[in-house]
Amino acid sequence: MKQKTDLLNKFWLKGKEFLGSDYALIGGAMSWICEKNLVLAVCRAGGFGVLASGCLSLEELREQIRFLKKEAPGPFGVNIVLLHPQMEEQIRICLEEKVSHIVLAAGVASADLISRLKENGVKTMAIVSNLILAQKLIRSGIDALVVEGCESGGHLGALTTTVLAQEVLPAVKDKVPVFMAGGIGTGQMLASFLMMGAAGGQVGTCLLAAKECRIHENFKKAVLKASSRQAIATVQLDERFPVIPVRSLANNAHEEFKRFQYQIIEDFKDGKITLAEGRHKIENFWAGSLRKAVVDGDTQEGSLMSGQIVGLVNEERPAEEIISSLVMQAEDFLQRTLNTLSDKTGNAQA
Ligand SMILES: Cc1cc2nc3c(=O)[nH]c(=O)nc-3n(C[C@H](O)[C@H](O)[C@H](O)COP(=O)(O)O)c2cc1C
Repeated sequence: MKQKTDLLNKFWLKGKEFLGSDYALIGGAMSWICEKNLVLAVCRAGGFGVLASGCLSLEELREQIRFLKKEAPGPFGVNIVLLHPQMEEQIRICLEEKVSHIVLAAGVASADLISRLKENGVKTMAIVSNLILAQKLIRSGIDALVVEGCESGGHLGALTTTVLAQEVLPAVKDKVPVFMAGGIGTGQMLASFLMMGAAGGQVGTCLLAAKECRIHENFKKAVLKASSRQAIATVQLDERFPVIPVRSLANNAHEEFKRFQYQIIEDFKDGKITLAEGRHKIENFWAGSLRKAVVDGDTQEGSLMSGQIVGLVNEERPAEEIISSLVMQAEDFLQRTLNTLSDKTGNAQA
């Protein structure tokens, strides 16, 4: 059931118009997780679903886009991981299938790529985690930004969503629609970002609890049980061996990763491996580990990617209910803020 959004519409109109959905609320892509069924559930709930392309074969990507074009009530996006070895082929398929929105992730999109997509009628979005990148992408012609803080699940930047909201929104909100992501688990948080000038929000972790989210039941149970403190970022032991941080639930794999890095550092000191070999091994440690969690349900060796907001995710519910309650809370929060303001103004005048 669609929620009342009279006040929200005053704040997120730009975001709604850009996305073409009832609500300016994006179900962010999650590799292995945001397949056609979850994306469809988000779109049917009035949100904007994004298909994760990284783990799909090219044939699956085309089939899932076609399915969504047929079944979804409105637009949806496709997430393209810029470092993916088949990125060009994935983009070709999106263009052939006339995907309306492409979300560029995990890297900095070139101005050439952005203009090529725009020439083909695609609305372009990019995920950023700092102001410099946001400004660079705007100069390169990006149509909208998702600004993601490090409370989020998955790969992380260095800054929190609250700092980014204060730093990035004032600088770019009048240039392109900005969707805030990372740590949104209530409508109050969503509404607060809207009041600061965001055009909408993006959620990931809270959709892990959606009935339509087909992660292994072990992963889902771990999410429903976890406290916020358990959603930890991977640790880097030595700056010569960089680690791209990822937030996931604490388990054996985190401990193993520390032991593994320690061993690599020792082997490097002893001259048993080169710097490049050590870096390569560390980069590859987590390869396949999200699949292990999502598909095999291995909660100890898999990567149970989740954001810190996981502590508020305690119940499996249909995506429609998750999205509706966020929207209802946000509208209610705006209404209460308005009432408080008019009460205070009334009192001041009395
Ligand atoms: C399990 C998981 C996998 C993710 N995979 C991707 C991905 O493939 N591409 C991407 O752009 N973002 C990915 N993200 C980030 C989400 O799209 C979203 O921005 C983030 O979850 C929002 O923060 P939250 O987790 O606090 O709600 C992932 C997040 C999670 C939890």
